[in-house]
Amino acid sequence: MKRPSVQISAMGRSVPARVMTNYDFAAIGIETTHEWVMERTGISERHIAGPDDTTCSMGAKAARIAMQRAGVLPGEIDIIICSTATPDRLLPATAVDIQASLGASRAAAFDISAACCGFLYGMTMAEGLIQSGAAETVLLVSSEKMSAITDWTDRATCVLFGDGAGAAVIRRSQKGRGILSTFMRSDGTLADLLYRPAGGATTPMSPAVLEARTHLVHMAGREVFKHAVRSMAESADRALDGARINGGDIDLLIPHQANLRIIEATAKHASIPMSKVYVNVDRYGNTSSASIPIALDEAMQKGVVGEGSLVLMVAFGAGFTWASSVVRL
Ligand code: ACO
Repeated sequence: MKRPSVQISAMGRSVPARVMTNYDFAAIGIETTHEWVMERTGISERHIAGPDDTTCSMGAKAARIAMQRAGVLPGEIDIIICSTATPDRLLPATAVDIQASLGASRAAAFDISAACCGFLYGMTMAEGLIQSGAAETVLLVSSEKMSAITDWTDRATCVLFGDGAGAAVIRRSQKGRGILSTFMRSDGTLADLLYRPAGGATTPMSPAVLEARTHLVHMAGREVFKHAVRSMAESADRALDGARINGGDIDLLIPHQANLRIIEATAKHASIPMSKVYVNVDRYGNTSSASIPIALDEAMQKGVVGEGSLVLMVAFGAGFTWASSVVRL
């Protein structure tokens, strides 16, 4: 039996109002320059959560926009998947807080943890849940308050991240639109290259952990960079092969927005010119799993892509995890 096709029906996004530029780091005692950060990463500014911005509040705001555009009421949502590396609380899932905020009383709600690949992992799960008949309407929310797990005394990492959320309503497809291919991979042997060493069940929070700052993100930047370039290239190949197309057929590449040099390397490998690559890392920094849905929503709202466009999405993140997908919007 042919499995039903599944599509992104609508997108939404939400970022905190506060903007922090590269020039603002001096005020918090970080020795860096706008030129250094721009040259190494392509990041100029990022949005940072204010006191009232939570992973739930940003996610619910993005979700309401996506639901309104899709014409979906809270009671019609069967499943809420929240991808996040920054849950508001460790128990229960942030997805149930989003459910309560939306009043989506019929839904089952749970979180997934796949770092920057969370949106693409979640989209693949949503596709399977719909194809199996377990759900008709899935709300996928990728929301990240990276500022809460950033070490604001470490200049090598604090310049990289930003906060924000993106959301998608996912349903059966119409008129030949939909997800054409997906690819997911992980390598846990490399977990310690990008991680939070403490603060979990093995080494719970304690005064010693707080003092050593080991509950915050630690990263071996150069190693991560090398693996990101290699894995993003493989991911692009696998999604293109899965959809039986090549880079020249793609209308827009939306890579995970971590670093402009990684984005350029990915585009070059896939033979996609930079004119067909969506870049907003300069304005948002790395928002982990929110980066692809924020970029996709922005590209749709600006008319860079529309109904019928062929989009390749490629991500890489902690774990390591890497993933990709080709969709016909
Ligand atoms: N400003 C000025 N100097 C800095 C800064 C800063 N913000 N940060 C580090 N430096 C200095 C270092 O101290 C070092 O100085 P030294 O040579 O005197 O010791 C020098 O710059 C070089 O440091 P490196 O870490 O080797 O710099 P590199 O060229 O590798 O750039 C960077 C660092 C930007 C982090 C790079 O490694 C990178 O982009 N890595 C990938 C990171 C990434 O994208 N992570 C996320 C992907 S996965 C995910 O999204 C979860």
